[in-house]
Amino acid sequence: MTEWYKIAFGELYPLVYPHRDVAEAAKVAARLTPLVASARPTLDVACGNGRYMSALAAGGADVYGVDLSEYLLAEAVKQGLRGRVVCGDIRALPFATGVFGSAINMFTSFGYFETDDDNAGVLREIARVIRPQGAFVLDFINAARIRRTMTPRSRRVAGDAQVEESRELSAQGRVLTKRVRVEWRGRDPVEYTERLRLYARDELTAMLEGADFHVRDVHGDYQLGPFAADASERLIFVCERRGPVA
Ligand SMILES: C[S@@+](CC[C@H](N)C(=O)[O-])C[C@H]1O[C@@H](n2cnc3c(N)ncnc32)[C@H](O)[C@@H]1O
Repeated sequence: MTEWYKIAFGELYPLVYPHRDVAEAAKVAARLTPLVASARPTLDVACGNGRYMSALAAGGADVYGVDLSEYLLAEAVKQGLRGRVVCGDIRALPFATGVFGSAINMFTSFGYFETDDDNAGVLREIARVIRPQGAFVLDFINAARIRRTMTPRSRRVAGDAQVEESRELSAQGRVLTKRVRVEWRGRDPVEYTERLRLYARDELTAMLEGADFHVRDVHGDYQLGPFAADASERLIFVCERRGPVA
């Protein structure tokens, strides 16, 4: 079976997540730049269409990106991407050990794999390619808020398509599945189910520490305000790679 993320992050992605655009990334990147720009180069892990890469580069960062979606990487290049991209899997980053000064993983590009060990493996890979003392920013969703505010079903028009989304939580509330159905005029409908492991703050902290990161700060929104378990929309970790100075 084709993994859901290979379907979801193709041409359907801009229809399903239209609000996650370049303008949003530019605002957020202004706050990220001081955290990563001096630790060169920076790797955007699961960079998608490169919206964060271009925004960070505009602020003076030297940026590389890696993503599995050939479609989104081609979009990145078409849109005049600033930085260099590689097509690859975040479970086995196609880079040598210690070549990056910093890394980011933005907009819930984590928790996609079936096992906790596979998800933790992504953090271990990021730690492998960053030098000691390097910065890493992980931008995840706040699971507690999702559990409280989730809309089970929604339907909207997106361009010349109708997008229907049905959301469900697993029995222990640890896995969020979202069935997406896109109906186009004159084309066959497409359907897939996203699967996201909803890690809580403590779980992610333990995973980051286990991957040799020290968690410096935890924020709850893109303004980098404090995290509040019940209310915050995001769960953003600012970390430092442990290890001796080279
Ligand atoms: C929610 S999007 C976010 C993209 C980007 N960080 C942003 O903020 O626009 C998640 C990204 O993860 C990528 N992705 C999913 N699974 C992946 C994998 N196994 N290896 C590399 N990239 C993957 C998708 O192709 C997609 O671009």
